[in-house]
Amino acid sequence: MEILLDTANLEQIKKYVELYEITGVTSNPTIISKEKAEFWPLLTEIKKVIGDKQLHVQVTADNWQDMLKEAECIREKLGADTYIKVPTIEQGICAMKHLKAMGANVTATAVYTTQQAMMAACAGADYVAPYFNRMNNLNVDSKKVIGDMVNLFRAHNKPTKVLAASFKNTEQVMDALTVGAQAVTVSVNLLTTMVQNAIIDFAVEGFRKDWIDTYGDKRIYEL
Ligand code: G3P
Repeated sequence: MEILLDTANLEQIKKYVELYEITGVTSNPTIISKEKAEFWPLLTEIKKVIGDKQLHVQVTADNWQDMLKEAECIREKLGADTYIKVPTIEQGICAMKHLKAMGANVTATAVYTTQQAMMAACAGADYVAPYFNRMNNLNVDSKKVIGDMVNLFRAHNKPTKVLAASFKNTEQVMDALTVGAQAVTVSVNLLTTMVQNAIIDFAVEGFRKDWIDTYGDKRIYEL
């Protein structure tokens, strides 16, 4: 089970890479544009902060030749281990095939259907990224579609993993993982709500109070 951060915000990345067990960081042109920063300095800094964790960077071209040129540039500047995110369209499938032939890591993105996932897996993608909430908005049963992708890859011994994305609440995240998605990429807001609610605080506060009543503010290592 892998958790990735779906953000290009440096402060958030620094904080949550330190706090949680994070597999990596995913970005896309929309996420990067929110930072209002120079593209290469921002990504170089993110890479520095996350070290050998995964960095997924999306190409922006609309034909496979230019996608490959962008990917080469990304790998040269950010490392050959960078995951090249490629939209799962016809030109993208072709780019994925070439990228895998040259040994690149590939994440197929903008995935809404099992057919797209199948095409990306056959092109050798390491991850496919189905958009949970955006599928829900189309009245598609995202949980079923993601479960189908997992089962399809398993049935055909495909090593491609499902990296579910586009979440608006924690129930969607847990649904994706429950049906077998190997990875989820989540905003920091959603990730923090996983372990934040008044009932948890109440329990922890109770332990703290009982401890202080008996031992004062001493820590275990001070007793
Ligand atoms: O990683 C893809 C994801 O960021 C799309 O999410 O929230 O724009 O639907 P959203």
